[in-house]
Formats: sequence, structure tokens, C-alpha cells
Amino acid sequence: MNVLVTGGCGYIGSHAALRLLEDGHAVTVVDDLTRGHKQVIEILKPLGDVRFVQDDLGRGDPIAHVMRQRSIDLVMHFGALAYVGESVEQPLRYYRKNTASSLGLLEAMEEAGVSKIVFSSTCATYGKPPKRYVPIPESCPQKPINPYGRSKLMVEQMLLDHAHAKKQRDETFACTMLRYFNVAGSDRKGRIGEDHDPETHLIPIALEVALGQRPHITIFGTDYDTEDGTCIRDYVHVEDLIDAHIEAMQQLDANELHTFNVGIGRGYSVREVIDAAATVTGKKIKVIEGDRRPGDPPTLFNNPKRINSELGWEAKIADLETIIDSAWQWRKQNPHGYG
Ligand SMILES: NC(=O)c1ccc[n+]([C@@H]2O[C@H](COP(=O)([O-])OP(=O)(O)OC[C@H]3O[C@@H](n4cnc5c(N)ncnc54)[C@H](O)[C@@H]3O)[C@@H](O)[C@H]2O)c1
Repeated sequence: MNVLVTGGCGYIGSHAALRLLEDGHAVTVVDDLTRGHKQVIEILKPLGDVRFVQDDLGRGDPIAHVMRQRSIDLVMHFGALAYVGESVEQPLRYYRKNTASSLGLLEAMEEAGVSKIVFSSTCATYGKPPKRYVPIPESCPQKPINPYGRSKLMVEQMLLDHAHAKKQRDETFACTMLRYFNVAGSDRKGRIGEDHDPETHLIPIALEVALGQRPHITIFGTDYDTEDGTCIRDYVHVEDLIDAHIEAMQQLDANELHTFNVGIGRGYSVREVIDAAATVTGKKIKVIEGDRRPGDPPTLFNNPKRINSELGWEAKIADLETIIDSAWQWRKQNPHGYG
């Protein structure tokens, strides 16, 4: 297949591009490099047919032109800004880069006759689910509590409306929306990894402490109603997540619309993650206990029933140490990320 990967220079998009190339697909990466790394493209080039276009994914005509030129069959849409705190400070930037750009992307698909998309959504669209919805099923009401979550939910709504209208006109449009939980780890062959700037994710921060690049890690809240008092989250290995994309791509037939949560279906506490990082790295990880952050629900993890039964996807890597070890191996070789 000819696949357009938006955000393909970022963490998850680069893992998707790598896997698609390994499976023999042709890949076109569109990334404006707001957060991505161009070095990724040089690493991917020897693996197959990859083309890089540095542009905003929502720019309309130029993107439609690329789609026609590369005979794109399907879009994997990862490109977005993804920091909750930043979205609260700069909401318009999030609605521009995430929501408005996605609208431009859909218009370009329409113009170029591309009718299949797999969209990266997020469990942040659920906001703070009531306890009875944890583990979280896809039917959990979506009530995001920050602009990031809302900017992604709006894209889901656009996709639903567009799919509906296309169906009414007997035109083809097929879409799978994948709502990820916390994505972690990296390519287990150590070719690419996770490098965010600024870094806000728990595992990379713990590894930076292990490398001596940060003095400590702060736990935000140690008095939650959980076994060890810290928040519990669902960590899905990035390679398992990409498996879900590949399945979604292969099973996506004309005029279908699917929504799946992607998470392993069990949670680990912040303390468990930090302890596992200390075990994997063999280093002491200094912890500072801080106050709770507003809006952090105590426990979030997936109910994987639908994705297990309908997509036939199950996480292969559910063990924290294996997840962290993959991230550590890359980070040890690349202490300053992509540099
Ligand atoms: N990392 C996670 O744990 C997580 C969890 C849930 C959902 N997600 C979603 O997964 C996707 C990828 O996340 P990531 O962690 O790889 O982020 P990332 O920041 O590493 O990658 C995103 C990439 O998209 C590019 N980009 C952003 N806006 C763009 C635009 N308008 N036009 C072109 N390129 C653009 C950035 O330059 C970057 O390379 C995002 O849509 C995010 O919302 C991530």
C-alpha cells in the first residue's frame, strides 16, 4: 500500500513508518518538524521507499498534490501537539495544529480521492471518567477536561460527520479511530526512540534521572486512593500500538467506521514505574514527592474487550520492565536523543 504518515518524524509516527517500510509498503511522511526529528528520515531511508515532505499537514492543495503524486491509499494521522499543560496555556495553537490542520487534511483527502484514514486519538477525550467506567470502555462518555483532549475529540466528531455524509451520498470513506492510553518504549532493535522536547512523559524522565541529566523526578500526588497513593496508568508498548494500526489498516474496508481503545488493560502506579526504571537501569532514581496536579484522575486503564474481540489485537508486551528496557537501550546509546 501507499501510506501517508502525518507526524512521521515524531515518536509514534516514526515507529509506524519504520514498521510500514519493513512490511514492504511505500511511505510518505508529512511533518512540519514543530516537534519531530528529521534525522529519523535518514534512518528510515535504507529500509525502503520513503519520501519526506516538510509541511503542515493541513495546508490543503500542496498536501492533496502529494497524495495524488504518491497514489496514496490510506492516511495514518499521528501529527499533533500533545502536551496537556501547553494546551491550557496556548489553546488556539492546539485548535490550529490539531483540529484545523486535521480539517485541512480531510479536505485534501477529499480532493485527492483518498478515502481511508487511521486516526490517533487519545484517552484524554474521556476526561475524568466516573469510577464505574474504569476500566474504560469505548462507550465511556467523552468529556475532555483540557484543550488538548477537546482538540482531538473535535477531530473525532469531524470524522464521524464526514463519514456519515459520505455514506448518505453512497461515497466511500472508511475510518478507524484509535484512542491510545500511555504509549511507552521504543523499537526493540534500537534504531529509533522517544525524544520529546520538552519531555513530560514519566518513563523518559525517569531514564534522564538515571543518566544523571536531571537531579530527580517529581511524583505529583502521593495521597490518591490507590494502593501506594500514586496515580495508576495503562502503558502500551509502541510496537504493540503499531501492530494495532497495521491490523486496523488491513481490516479497514470501504464505508466502515471503527473506534478502539488501545491499552494493555491493566494499570501500573507511578511508583511502580519508577521502581521498575531503577531495576532496569541499575541506577538510583531520586524521587521528590510533590502536590497533586489539577485534573489528574487517580486511576485510568483500558477495557480491551472490544479491540481484543473485534480487531483481534492483544498486547504482546505487558511487562513494565520489558517496556522500560526497550526505551533504556535506545536512550543509553543516544543519551541526548536525536541530538
Ligand atoms: N505519546 C502518547 O503517549 C500518546 C497518547 C495518546 C495519544 N497520542 C497521540 O499520538 C500522536 C503522536 O504522538 P507522539 O507522542 O508521537 O508526539 P510527537 O510530538 O513525538 O509527534 C508528533 C509529530 O507531529 C508533528 N506535527 C504536529 N502538528 C503538525 C502539523 N499540524 N503538521 C505537520 N506535522 C505536525 C510534530 O512535528 C511531530 O513530529 C498524537 O496525535 C498524539 O495526540 C500520543
